[in-house]
Amino acid sequence: MADTTDRLPDFPRDFLWGVSTSAHQIEGAVDVRGPSVWDLFTAEPGNVRDGSTAVVACDHVARYREDVALMRELGVGAYRFSVSWPRVQSPGGLDFYDRLVDELCAQGIRPVPTLFHWDLPADLDWLERDTASRFADHTAVVADRLGDRVTKWITLNEPAEHTLLGHALGTHAPGKKLLFDALPVAHHQLLAHGLAARALRAAGVRDIGIANSHGPTWPASAEPADAEAAEFYDVILNRLFSDPLILGEYPEGLAEFMPGDVAADLEIISGDTLDWYGINYYQPTKVGAPGGADESATEFSGISLPPGLPFSVKEIEGYPVTDFGWPVVPEALTELLVGFRERYGDRLPPVVITENGCAYEGVDDQGRIAYLDGHLRALHRAMEAGVDVRGYFVWSLMDNFEWAEGYTKRFGLVHVDYDTLARTPKASYHWLRDALRAYRP
Ligand code: NOJ
Repeated sequence: MADTTDRLPDFPRDFLWGVSTSAHQIEGAVDVRGPSVWDLFTAEPGNVRDGSTAVVACDHVARYREDVALMRELGVGAYRFSVSWPRVQSPGGLDFYDRLVDELCAQGIRPVPTLFHWDLPADLDWLERDTASRFADHTAVVADRLGDRVTKWITLNEPAEHTLLGHALGTHAPGKKLLFDALPVAHHQLLAHGLAARALRAAGVRDIGIANSHGPTWPASAEPADAEAAEFYDVILNRLFSDPLILGEYPEGLAEFMPGDVAADLEIISGDTLDWYGINYYQPTKVGAPGGADESATEFSGISLPPGLPFSVKEIEGYPVTDFGWPVVPEALTELLVGFRERYGDRLPPVVITENGCAYEGVDDQGRIAYLDGHLRALHRAMEAGVDVRGYFVWSLMDNFEWAEGYTKRFGLVHVDYDTLARTPKASYHWLRDALRAYRP
């Protein structure tokens, strides 16, 4: 592994460097907006590891100027944030994003809003097809208000995780445990992407992306049963989302589980809806054949998987792990990107890494420096191998509410003291600032 004090390889001059956050994880100010499914979920005891809620979070609505100043000092060219749909619906809610976008523009930072990052208005449900149309309406409202200053848009964040964790396993809001009956939730989100892209096109937007979670799936062995289980996992967590968007079709055998006129919907989903493809990458997953009833390895990112699934998730050994227990495998990012290019060929739009990062405690976060350094080198290797990558966003600008983990996992370049809300740049922040300065001498 390269020494993290070595200069990073050269990235193109117009490469977009950014940091990411999401509304529910940082904003606070919940009393001036309607409830989301996450407000209801966190209010129920037992759903969040430390029993916390995002009522205050990072108090970003009040402190956004300080946060934008931190981005400016860091030297990033772009900020990926999300607009809270229930806030947009509330009186005056869009005013906040108006001010935020103005401040970003004033500081020379490009705003990159995500229109949905899991905080669905509490009266909506992704099992309903109508939610996709409502999302298109929401998109039109936001584009109308911010479109004079925002040109680059992201429709949805990680529909795969929102389907899996929120609707299949129930460890995230809205807490549904539908297992494979959650598949319509995936379809309706993809349809929502297609309809939102239409609304953005109608507003004249030429720079549309989506942020999907992807990672290589490693079969536990060369045994056919393990290979088959890994293939199934790859289809359900990766290709179920990328194939419809890029190829206009579901992986074999899955369309029949989807509701509505699937062929017509696939045209909406894939018809001129993407100018670039956003990938959130964290780790590979090792998958094997389903274990016996007594097998203990049915854990996935700290979540106990229910019995009866057609695969089991295995521990990846031999790599450092983050505080989340996630293995640090930079070369899997190269593998992922090169694999995408091989699978989709010229149909793959330019790629942006919309999230990459890690959970570590402490302000002297050498683990995060090693993680980012390794992943940026791995990204560069994929670009050398011919993958067209246009940008990279670190998750996250600052420590924040990590969903079911509450405040127990810290992903920030900036430390947040949750008692005083003081922001303290970590060692990784200074490291990245210096690295970015080298690109802009
Ligand atoms: C993906 C999600 O988009 C983000 O909200 C989350 O905090 C990070 N991964 C880390 O788990």
